[in-house]
Amino acid sequence: MQNFLRPSPMAAFTAALLFISTIFTTSNAHNITAILSKDPEFSTFNHYLTLTHLAPAINGKQTITVLAVDNDAMHDLTSKNLSISTVKNILSLHVLLDYYDTKKLHQITKGTTDVATMYQTTGAATGIAGHVNITVLRGGKVGFGAQDNDGTLPATYVKSIQEIPSNISVLQISQILPSASAEAPTPPPTEHNITDIMSKQGCKSFAETLAANPDAFDTFNGNLNGGLTVFCPADKAFNAFLPKFKNLTTVAKIALLEFHGIPVYQSKDMLKSSNGPMNTLATDRGGYDFDVQNDGDEITLKTKAVTAKIMDTIFDEVPDAIFTISKVLLPEELFKGKAQSPSPAPAPEPAAADGPQPPKKKGKKKDAPADDDSDSPADSPDDSADDNADDKNGAAVRFNGIFFMVLSLVLGFLLL
Ligand SMILES: *[C@@H]1O[C@H](CO)[C@@H](O)[C@H](O)[C@H]1NC(C)=O
Ligand SMILES: *[C@@H]1O[C@H](CO)[C@@H](O)[C@H](O)[C@H]1NC(C)=O
Ligand SMILES: *[C@@H]1O[C@H](CO)[C@@H](O)[C@H](O)[C@H]1NC(C)=O
Ligand SMILES: *[C@@H]1O[C@H](CO)[C@@H](O)[C@H](O)[C@H]1NC(C)=O
Ligand SMILES: *[C@@H]1O[C@H](CO)[C@@H](O)[C@H](O)[C@H]1NC(C)=O
Ligand SMILES: *[C@@H]1O[C@H](CO)[C@@H](O)[C@H](O)[C@H]1NC(C)=O
Repeated sequence: MQNFLRPSPMAAFTAALLFISTIFTTSNAHNITAILSKDPEFSTFNHYLTLTHLAPAINGKQTITVLAVDNDAMHDLTSKNLSISTVKNILSLHVLLDYYDTKKLHQITKGTTDVATMYQTTGAATGIAGHVNITVLRGGKVGFGAQDNDGTLPATYVKSIQEIPSNISVLQISQILPSASAEAPTPPPTEHNITDIMSKQGCKSFAETLAANPDAFDTFNGNLNGGLTVFCPADKAFNAFLPKFKNLTTVAKIALLEFHGIPVYQSKDMLKSSNGPMNTLATDRGGYDFDVQNDGDEITLKTKAVTAKIMDTIFDEVPDAIFTISKVLLPEELFKGKAQSPSPAPAPEPAAADGPQPPKKKGKKKDAPADDDSDSPADSPDDSADDNADDKNGAAVRFNGIFFMVLSLVLGFLLL
């Protein structure tokens, strides 16, 4: 009898793999789309959070409250024929940058408070616009109003939709909060000039190289509206890598550049709660993934050939984000991840590679220093050599540890 219930080793193995893949798959602390999709009453509101790219922005934030309205209340908004960027401003006024669940609403000091919203952080709001007034009214009702709405509180609390303490609270309110500022017509969003942003913030060399390779450049620009995160190597790292880059085939050049972008928006917070493989813009060539790993406050991107650290956020506006990274990301598909030479062997660097580049001719041929032939692509890049090896071993040990722990847990459970 028992035998019928005993799963085959294959099934156990599959289950273990499945379990492991959930652990190592990119995941956020919460998913507003999933929370709202449980109730069709909020389908319009939910749909517009996705359409305006507010959903990933909400998922990327911790300690947040979403004031949702039902489909009837959304109809009042959508029937106004507003542009999508205006709808975005209005809905971002419904995302409070603090955690308020039902209990906390009724514990507001002196019965009234002023809360900043996501609208306030868009740069479109001025003065008190972008703030919401929450006030406990007579009879225990709770009123909500935009602060730029003449002191009236037209919306009231209806019910709690979901509360995840300290992380996200989703509350239903009776209507959309009127706000002259948020409802003002907005100019259509301008396309971001990623080359310009990167050039001004320490990734000039990468930006120029990208712009000079139209196939890769088009891939990046083609993702701007749908979601794009760019990891641009700082000038020091990319300049040191340039001789190797120039040696790559045309196809490999495109793949290497595309390896520095992912086709989704990821804020720093989202990356922080991610661990595991990440597809890149080059992934459709087969492979070309890197691993995101977090250690405390540090976020690293790893391949078998390199470990790069995320340095700064230089752009973050849903659906796009740009981060500077410490090293050039070397895909395993191009750089075999040969055992790194123990010597730091920094590639010859152009003078003053550190600071902002003087407008120097970058096409100028290197005066072929003796160590040029040590520059085969399979070598470790610039300064990655020694600290890398340590990181990798540590990670491998941790990974194996978790792998076997999980495997034995699952097997143990299934064989009970
Ligand atoms: C809140 O989010 C943090 C970070 O993602 C997570 O560790 C924690 O478990 C979450 N809290 C709850 C109650 O889910
Ligand atoms: C959130 O949930 C929705 C619907 O359940 C799903 O389609 C989407 O992929 C999820 N997003 C993330 C970032 O997990
Ligand atoms: C809605 O707005 C669009 C563009 O802003 C305009 O072309 C269209 O005529 C408007 N429709 C109505 C019914 O106002
Ligand atoms: C909120 O609005 C009410 C009603 O206009 C007002 O009495 C109260 O002072 C306001 N609270 C805050 C914190 O602005
Ligand atoms: C983007 O900015 C660069 C300068 O950094 C400029 O050369 C280029 O023409 C701009 N591209 C667009 C599409 O405006
Ligand atoms: C370029 O490739 C050739 C042939 O594979 C090699 O001999 C040379 O050292 C490489 N140069 C650089 C800068 O990587």
